[in-house]
Amino acid sequence: MTNDAQPRTQWLGRWGFVLAATGSAVGLGNVWKFPYMTGEYGGGAFVLVYLACILALGVPVMMTEIALGRRGRGSPIDAIRRVAAESGGASLWSLLGWMAMLCGFMILCFYVVVAGWSFSYLWKMLSGGLAGSSVDDMAAIFGANNESPLNLGFWSTLVTLATMVIVGKGVQAGIEKSVSWMMPGMVVMLLIMIAYGAFSGGFGDALHFLFAFNAGSLSSEGMLAAMGHAFFTLSLASGAILTYGSYLPRNASIGRTTLTVAVADTLVALMAGLAIFPVIFANGMEPGSGPGLIFMSLPLAFQAMPLGTLFGVLFFIMLSMAALTSSISMVEATVSWLTDNKGISRRAAAWGTGIVLWIISTLAMLSFNVGAEWTLAGKHFFGWLDYLTSRWMMPLGGLGMVLLAGFVLKSETLREELGLSPAMHALWLFMVRYVSPLGIVVIFVDALGIATL
Ligand code: PHE
Ligand code: NA
Repeated sequence: MTNDAQPRTQWLGRWGFVLAATGSAVGLGNVWKFPYMTGEYGGGAFVLVYLACILALGVPVMMTEIALGRRGRGSPIDAIRRVAAESGGASLWSLLGWMAMLCGFMILCFYVVVAGWSFSYLWKMLSGGLAGSSVDDMAAIFGANNESPLNLGFWSTLVTLATMVIVGKGVQAGIEKSVSWMMPGMVVMLLIMIAYGAFSGGFGDALHFLFAFNAGSLSSEGMLAAMGHAFFTLSLASGAILTYGSYLPRNASIGRTTLTVAVADTLVALMAGLAIFPVIFANGMEPGSGPGLIFMSLPLAFQAMPLGTLFGVLFFIMLSMAALTSSISMVEATVSWLTDNKGISRRAAAWGTGIVLWIISTLAMLSFNVGAEWTLAGKHFFGWLDYLTSRWMMPLGGLGMVLLAGFVLKSETLREELGLSPAMHALWLFMVRYVSPLGIVVIFVDALGIATL
């Protein structure tokens, strides 16, 4: 590789990586996807499996990915190839990097549509378009917003452009700094909404729905969904964390960083659930309403609470920012691979990627209007992008990472990179060798109905 000789860019300052990784992790996955999936899969049992997957799969995989990135100093493809080669592993392992890079890009293709929803609701809040609406109106407003490809396409195009401008100019660091005010801001907003929910009547039901772990209520399909979501929400197996890890300075602690990111991400998701479900239950809405859930429920709360318009505007600003700090991380792998290997500038790489992104994301956007009928096995294009990445590519990618780390790489390599105490290292190794792979395989086998467990 031509760039081996040059020192790779590194994060500025002690908090650079933590901010960027938190910015990548905390996003629509927490506020949009987690609540609607929890609603769809029936609540508590889904939440429990999701939490277990964060601990048993998410944390070990994130540590592995950061270590691989920092050791290999490159895009997922190059980094994995180098690190595997160093231990005499086959170059075939770099396929894992290809899959991750593709996965991040595929996620982005539908993510910009959802981020577009967030921007369009920010606009609706600002322009008063949501005031005085009933439960039914909210569903109708969400529907109408989707109906026109021009309208929806405008917003997803805006997000695509914003992402590519940021990535192309290489000003991510500036955007990621926004995480240092946006994250606390998001937490405060969610706390305000939780407090509102606590007085609005649906709080008890919400608590029960989220935390009553009634075993057996979760389908095998739901378990696979919960596992996939654990990977999605932590930005794993999609190139984002691994590539960010490749800019991490030697002396940073991978274990502590991972814990910080995982805890922040999980807290935001749980708080989002606590903010949204009281509104759902107090208004007699259906928890399983699908991807529009937060857009149909939150505005109801904003119009009923004191200073609601102000809070609503602030909330959607933060959600949109959170979406951008995630979306920029999804193309970083591709852009870094293009600049490292194809000798093109960051700018050209970003715009080239952006054009392809715009075309595919437009097709995903059409799933909500003219392309709603373009389905395969009952799923439209947007649904397929989500399904393939979350249910298959990320868990399989995660499995590949832990097998590589647990069985192929020399133990000194990871001991050096992770720098854990001997006891913690042994625990980490036990996780990546046995617990994580078994967990992933068991959930897959169960979901495929290969064996009756
Ligand atoms: N973790 C992000 C979220 O929860 C989504 C994401 C997935 C970001 C994969 C990067 C890579 O919104
Ligand atoms: Na997340």
